[in-house]
Amino acid sequence: MLVDSFNRKHDYLRISLTDKCNLRCLYCMPVDLPESFLATRSMMNVDEIVAIAKVFVDLGVTKIRLTGGEPLVRKEVREIISRLAKFPVQLALTTNAVLVDEYIDLFVETGLRSVNVSLDSLEASTFEILSQRKHFSKVVANIQLLLDRGFHVKLNMVVLKEVNHKEIPAFVEMTKNAHLHVRFIEFMPFKGNGWDKQQVFSSDEIISLINKNFQFHKLTDRPHDTARNFRVDNHVGTFAIISTMTEPFCDTCNRLRLTSDGKMKNCLFSNGEADILSALRKGDDLVPIIRQCVWQKKAARGGQMMGDLGDISAENIDNRSMISIGG
Ligand code: GTP
Ligand code: 5AD
Ligand code: SF4
Repeated sequence: MLVDSFNRKHDYLRISLTDKCNLRCLYCMPVDLPESFLATRSMMNVDEIVAIAKVFVDLGVTKIRLTGGEPLVRKEVREIISRLAKFPVQLALTTNAVLVDEYIDLFVETGLRSVNVSLDSLEASTFEILSQRKHFSKVVANIQLLLDRGFHVKLNMVVLKEVNHKEIPAFVEMTKNAHLHVRFIEFMPFKGNGWDKQQVFSSDEIISLINKNFQFHKLTDRPHDTARNFRVDNHVGTFAIISTMTEPFCDTCNRLRLTSDGKMKNCLFSNGEADILSALRKGDDLVPIIRQCVWQKKAARGGQMMGDLGDISAENIDNRSMISIGG
């Protein structure tokens, strides 16, 4: 079991398979990044991903989520999913859904049933402005495909004030007849993403906007949920809010991260990293390195964002870009 100095148990590993993506979401990918994609040699190869994952599983990890960039653009993704699915873990995926139709049969075959999909707008024009690519209809069709095939689907909407916040009620409306879980995510600061606190549409603002349109009730959250869950009366699906910026949920955090270049992060906002891949290539024992990294985890938000939203300034945060962490 991996325990930190605050007695939090860590059994959830998020593995980024690539820092590349087939979209260019403005809040995620720094404008200068395309030239700095990782070289293949510095990335974990398939055997290395499986070997490192095994060490984590032996240390008590029971859930692995694959992230990116966009995980489905990694060319060996079939082999990676097939091999990780053999571990005694719940395997899950976060994707932009552009390529889901190509891989959905593989998900079924390997038992990967939980897919989180990023979708920031229900309007093609806003989707294209935000993602800088024309894949809206493909994404919408693939979300429907996942629902039709009985997947557990969560939709992630990053809420940006004045860009898409007025669409929140329309997203909630989607939960009326579909077994869909829509999550509204407060905009978070990462390297190069132009974060500005004025653009954060807060959890309170989200709730009061939904309140004007729907009658809803709070649901019981599971122990390590990052989201606070709600259901509109008589709706089949649910909605939730991920309030990292105004109401962080770090007390119950059980998450660890592995970047596609094999660096371990003990928090989404940690500035320190443990170089797991180099250690593996040297033949070192990974266990003490992993344990030490977990032990060094800060109480909240990587120790980098103290106080309220008003006190946070992006210049003081030392971290990777979101696309190179994987979310
Ligand atoms: P499950 O709980 O396994 O469904 O995953 P998730 O909702 O955490 O994962 P997903 O990849 O769908 O991420 C949704 C949003 O939550 C993204 O904006 C992530 O950056 C954010 N998120 C995921 N994990 C953490 C975390 O440990 N801390 C914080 N602050 N945000 C997180
Ligand atoms: N703030 C909040 N969420 C973000 N995501 C990417 N960048 C940010 C950000 N700056 C979300 C994506 C994806 C998930 C992995 O993280 O929308 O759904
Ligand atoms: Fe965990 Fe860090 Fe996210 Fe807080 S900010 S929930 S400590 S990963």
